[in-house]
Amino acid sequence: MTEASPTWLVTGGAGFIGSNFVLGRRAAKAARIINLDKLTYAGNLRNLEPLKDDPDHLFVHGDISDPALVAELLERHRPQAVVNFAAESHVDRSIYGPQVFIQTNVVGTLQLLEESRHYWENLPSADQEKFRFLHVSTDEVYGSLNLDDPPFSETTPYAPNSPYAASKAASDHLVRAYHRTYGLPTLITNCSNNYGPLQFPEKLIPLMILNGLQGKPLPIYGDGKNIRDWLYVTDHCEALALVLQQGRVGETYNIGGASELTNLEVVTAICGILDELRPDSPFLPHSSLITYVKDRLGHDRRYAIETAKIANELGWRPRESFSSGLAATVRWYLAHRDWVESVQTGEYQQWLKKHYGGAPQPTGTERNSCIR
Ligand code: NAD
Ligand code: TYD
Repeated sequence: MTEASPTWLVTGGAGFIGSNFVLGRRAAKAARIINLDKLTYAGNLRNLEPLKDDPDHLFVHGDISDPALVAELLERHRPQAVVNFAAESHVDRSIYGPQVFIQTNVVGTLQLLEESRHYWENLPSADQEKFRFLHVSTDEVYGSLNLDDPPFSETTPYAPNSPYAASKAASDHLVRAYHRTYGLPTLITNCSNNYGPLQFPEKLIPLMILNGLQGKPLPIYGDGKNIRDWLYVTDHCEALALVLQQGRVGETYNIGGASELTNLEVVTAICGILDELRPDSPFLPHSSLITYVKDRLGHDRRYAIETAKIANELGWRPRESFSSGLAATVRWYLAHRDWVESVQTGEYQQWLKKHYGGAPQPTGTERNSCIR
């Protein structure tokens, strides 16, 4: 690494988005990266295997809530930026057990902010100018939209509905307060639903791909008409790199994929790709595996995101369409059976059992067969 290259402290860099970010930034030789991750069920060192011989990537197993560890890492490595991906990230898990969401997403972010502030306050002024704290957050902080509502913008009032969204909203407020109160040079991004390689298969898209391949039911919550905006993970990572380097300090940037779809549309599209790529599957058509199950508590109806600010200020636009990104994602899961097996551990099996009760239970009023 050249003398001029910065060092970044990235947290949660063994998870889905964090590892895509770290891999992409290291491929671009953008920075030396110190990667702090607790390795919860969602963190996976296999995600970082391509970097095992990279001297400019250092993995540290630890918790963002550990002030001594964070202080020591900041002091020793003198980063120019902290990029915070570390979080509990799954809405369904937050419904079963909110405490760990508060601990990591709120208390952990607070500890990370506090240690970053001490470090930043003691930097020489030229380094203070350059320092950034980038906090990666979600569009779920804005709550739920009706079909005819305009999309979320950076000025939409916060109205989080799940314990996960509430914990992320609290963390965003803390980041904002550290900028307003102490002058810490912060940036916040709120993005829509990510998809792509390396996503843990508790989330909609990888769960459906893997269940489809194995001929298991494809559990759709409620009527399947809930709408999400889908953002390909590498598009998101490019946006984060731009915000980090060129974003205005103290600002929030929304990041979306311009792909609003109902869950049923998403799952039907996955089934179509599986039919094409696995023409000899005994489970054709894969859409016959679609099964309606009990709705998620407090299930937000629609998320949609306006991206004019990041487009106009930083020139960012998503490169992937939903169909190209989804096809690439399905192909990635088909080609990485080892990775899939490695994450489908005991903990994953326990989660499926607890949440779906072994096999998803069809609800009374809905069909447990395909919709075409
Ligand atoms: P993920 O669950 O795949 O990964 C989270 C990572 O954080 C894991 O590697 C985990 O081990 C680590 N971690 C958890 N607690 C930690 C702690 N206390 N200390 C250090 N590391 C810890 O999540 P993701 O999907 O990659 O999401 C990354 C960030 O982006 C999160 O902040 C999430 O809220 C946000 N986000 C995600 C999405 C999405 O669609 N996945 C959408 C919007 C925002
Ligand atoms: P998810 O991937 O959990 O992301 P989020 O809740 O953060 O949006 O879910 C995406 C959508 O898919 C959401 O509306 C819930 C729905 N969903 C199902 O219908 N079935 C499932 O098994 C899962 C995991 C999600």
